[in-house]
Amino acid sequence: MSDILVHTEAGVLTLTLNRVDKKNSLTAAMYAALADALDAAAGDAAVRVVLIQGDPAIFSAGNDIGDFLRASAAGPAGDAEGADEAAIALDEPVFRFLRGLAGFPKPVVAAVCGPAVGIGTTLLLHCDLVYAGDNAAFSMPFVNLGLCPEAGSSLLVPQMLGHHRAAEALLLGEPFMAEAALEVGLVNRVVPPMEANTIAQTQARRLAAKPLAALVETKRLLKKSNQAVVLERIEEEARSFRRLMRGPAAREAFAAFMDKRKPDFAGL
Ligand code: COA
Repeated sequence: MSDILVHTEAGVLTLTLNRVDKKNSLTAAMYAALADALDAAAGDAAVRVVLIQGDPAIFSAGNDIGDFLRASAAGPAGDAEGADEAAIALDEPVFRFLRGLAGFPKPVVAAVCGPAVGIGTTLLLHCDLVYAGDNAAFSMPFVNLGLCPEAGSSLLVPQMLGHHRAAEALLLGEPFMAEAALEVGLVNRVVPPMEANTIAQTQARRLAAKPLAALVETKRLLKKSNQAVVLERIEEEARSFRRLMRGPAAREAFAAFMDKRKPDFAGL
């Protein structure tokens, strides 16, 4: 079965992350499938709302670290000051997905249960309504992997949390639970995990029953003041992310994850 399930019913396109044995970590092929689905949905009159969901036990463990390891090995070794930033390919699937999501004209709803790591959390910043299981655990451990924020999170997280709590989440990589996410406004409601997908689907269908042109215009206006700067930040982060990914700290972190050991950042 596919790692991304795509289903349209009652005006709602439901995208289900379905790689549970690998904790719904996202591969390049999965980003491509998500990006293609969003591209098609933007111009498809049968789709009025998109819903992104995972499993009651896991939303996503973030980017597939095996893919990270291969990508970091493919480029020249670099460090925070080094390697060629121009080598970054903004048409690669992850950036196609992020741009598609950040610029998606119709409402996007998400249901999140269990761990939501890295892009599993940052993609939520671009959704309009988020329903979280009470087991949801959000984390953005980019620094712990020798990386920096992505998906516009270096802009959107401090806007939402304030600098100090953003620093806790992005510098220390501290996880936070569903209730804390509710308090800062990252999620709309905390619900029992077995009900999250159903509640999100109900809310998505309520939106889908509303007049589409009014929804689209309202979303455009809601996002207008931040939109250009968010897209610009996604690109800037992407260049830094790709450069750091080829650095020694990231290579050590990825190798440590694959070897199931703690990374050793001594001297890095
Ligand atoms: N990339 C690739 N594989 C991953 C993965 C990822 N991001 N996250 C989990 N997996 C794989 C594990 O390697 C393991 O594979 P195996 O069964 O072949 O050994 C399987 O999924 C189960 O993961 P495991 O760590 O045993 O599950 P857990 O329930 O103990 O922990 C998490 C779940 C999400 C907390 C943990 O997997 C984790 O921290 N993952 C990495 C998160 C991360 O750093 N992502 C990158 C963010 S930028």
